[in-house]
Amino acid sequence: MKTLIDAAEIRQRVHNLGRQISDDYRHKPLTVVSVLTGSLVFVADLVREISTPHRIGVAHASSYRGKTTVPGELKISLSLVPDIRGRDVLIVDDIFDTGQTLKRVVEAFESYSPSSIRTAALLLKEGRSTVEMVPDYFCFRIPNVFVVGYGLDYNDDYRHLPHIAEMEEADL
Ligand code: XMP
Repeated sequence: MKTLIDAAEIRQRVHNLGRQISDDYRHKPLTVVSVLTGSLVFVADLVREISTPHRIGVAHASSYRGKTTVPGELKISLSLVPDIRGRDVLIVDDIFDTGQTLKRVVEAFESYSPSSIRTAALLLKEGRSTVEMVPDYFCFRIPNVFVVGYGLDYNDDYRHLPHIAEMEEADL
């Protein structure tokens, strides 16, 4: 595997994003929602860079297995999300690929009457989107390659890597 984005670059971008979010949500009732499992590491670092008080929740979205993203049955569970009525919700995912996951998660949140919903993704894969929306915040644009690390997995492995690595044919 070859390193695509090293840990120092991630730290810097996450730090900057945290500052931007702090400015944008100053004096607002912010709830940051981690879309599990891929965004776990990113959110853990991001919330510690957000200086304005906020709450944290988790949602679960799953559909996807292996090296290709096959649009399939997407299961979304919001059972662990704290009450978001009247709050400003920032939904955070690991990667925006086709965009179907974030789009569907946003739709699921709309029925809980938040005051606003925005989205953030660590990575934005170029040329893959099949939806109208784009994330309000993201850290890195990447080409259409399969990546792991910093929360992202290949068949549940590699999430613990501190950097983002590109899986090459030989690794798959
Ligand atoms: P969509 O297409 O709905 O996909 O935007 C988002 C979800 O697909 C997974 N995904 C990946 N996971 N390396 C991964 O480890 C990748 O290159 C990749 N591309 C998509 C991921 O779960 C994400 O939340």
